Amino acid sequence: MNTLRVVLLIGLFMSITFGYGQQRLPQSQPPFNPVAGVDEIMKSIVDPLAWTVFRSVGTIMTEQRIEEIAPKNDGEWEAVRSAAMGLAEGGNLLMFESRTSDKEPDWITMSQQLIRRSLDAAEAAKTKDAEKLLIVGGDVYEVCESCHLLYMKFETWQRWRWKR
Ligand code: HEC
Repeated sequence: MNTLRVVLLIGLFMSITFGYGQQRLPQSQPPFNPVAGVDEIMKSIVDPLAWTVFRSVGTIMTEQRIEEIAPKNDGEWEAVRSAAMGLAEGGNLLMFESRTSDKEPDWITMSQQLIRRSLDAAEAAKTKDAEKLLIVGGDVYEVCESCHLLYMKFETWQRWRWKR
């Protein structure tokens, strides 16, 4: 009786591991179709989402007064949170094979940092913590800068620099 149970268990275990292994075979990958280059991903996804996060908090100083800005209601906080989540997924787009080939391993490290820090920003927005959002937003900006320092072409850097 006991032996039968063990045999049954082994059978069950094998069918689970076998089934699991099958699912992970490369040919079951969906047919990804990366269509944008890195510059396009920056322009259409990373940059707009990042600036939604960066601009959401901070201090505006004029001669007359100092104004602290932060999202004002649930909707505005949610917009920042979802932008930060989108930015985190943007980090995955940057790690696609066709976009990394000659750049690893720094490229991978920085893409992962972008994901992690964007998730911190999303968490700060979720908990409506403006002070934390300002700090982690700065950390996100630091990743943008370090990657650009290494990989951005000089012409692109100049063009980008003067826009801000
Ligand atoms: C893993 C590396 C990497 C990270 C992280 C990264 N970038 Fe970039 N980005 C690049 C590269 C490389 C280019 C230059 C593409 C080219 O000119 O060939 C670029 C270009 C840009 C451009 C110029 C696009 C154009 O052609 O006009 C903007 C804007 C930009 N990045 C914004 C950002 C912002 C904002 C962040 C952070 C939230 C960020 N990037 C994070 C690699 C990165």
